[in-house]
Amino acid sequence: MATPTDSPNPPFIIPERSLDRDCTTLSRHVLQQLQSFSPDAQDLSALMGRIALAGKLIARRLSCAGIVDGVLGFAGSENVQGEAVKKMDVYANEVFISVFKQSGLVCRLASEEMDEPYYIPENCPIGRYTLVYDPIDGSGNIDANLNVGSIFAIRQQEGEDTTGEAKDLLQNGHKQIAAGYILYGASTILVYTIGQGVHAFTLDPSLGEFILWQENLQIPKHGSVYSVNEGNFWQWDDAMRDYIRYVHRHEGYTGRYSGALVSDFHRILLQGGVFLYPGTTKQPEGKLRLLYESAPLAFLVEQAGGHASTGTQAVNDVVPNKLHQRTPLIIGSVEDVALVESFIHDRQQRDPSDPS
Ligand code: F6P
Repeated sequence: MATPTDSPNPPFIIPERSLDRDCTTLSRHVLQQLQSFSPDAQDLSALMGRIALAGKLIARRLSCAGIVDGVLGFAGSENVQGEAVKKMDVYANEVFISVFKQSGLVCRLASEEMDEPYYIPENCPIGRYTLVYDPIDGSGNIDANLNVGSIFAIRQQEGEDTTGEAKDLLQNGHKQIAAGYILYGASTILVYTIGQGVHAFTLDPSLGEFILWQENLQIPKHGSVYSVNEGNFWQWDDAMRDYIRYVHRHEGYTGRYSGALVSDFHRILLQGGVFLYPGTTKQPEGKLRLLYESAPLAFLVEQAGGHASTGTQAVNDVVPNKLHQRTPLIIGSVEDVALVESFIHDRQQRDPSDPS
């Protein structure tokens, strides 16, 4: 009779962790980055800790898809952009609100799922920060058990916001003091920047902690991946079609598109290449929202040595005129973004009236 030791596949053993090397937690990392225990540094560390808690709650719920209520399917409503809301969009939006409610840190939250910013009046006298976020990016992937993400940025409140219109949020991406995303995939990964490089953490479910995985990520100058929904080809302008024809006709390019921006961006951050969501005839500004999708990822990519462009200007130079403003997005390796821009530039030279 076979005994356990005879088995060709020994039982799976969780590897021992070397505590001194592997256990830099997120909040410790933020403080190390700032090299300070000042009140501002403590605030930023606490803010990141709260975002991480939201990420853990969302990851836990996603991992039970199909066996607990409220994960799969639609909520039966539409958001401010007229998109059908999924149950997880509602849940994740509320998770972010609830983890910040008693934090004393954040006075306002603005998200894809809320027409207007959400105020936490009890925090406002002391909480000078605003969280802008997309609670579940790519939520169409949930029912197919595919990757989704959360995107966030933190901005400092400027002025008193007595009208409740959060007008100070209508500023460019250089006003972000922190940004990042959480990717819910085979593992849960949190990537963030506070303007001092880009750092990635993996959620260790046995500890319930995000543990440092990679510090100071640098995006390659060029990569083979182009990531775009080619089903929109018929709706693109000539410059975008020129670019896609170019990659179709040259060796060394490969298409990858998951339907979740965070997931596609994460691959490109690690391996290089370019993600594109250009304007279409139906949506000339594209689909992605500036404040809580494009600008946070632009902050990250620039910190990692890459670039984010609308095609004609840097994403982080764009000043929105409304909270839910959309913008075309071309983001990734500097050389690949420059190649796309060169096709736009060429078309403009040929026909200056072409807005592309
Ligand atoms: O903003 C939402 C989003 O789901 C992104 O995560 C994703 O990149 C994009 O929309 C997918 O849109 P489409 O289905 O039009 O390609």
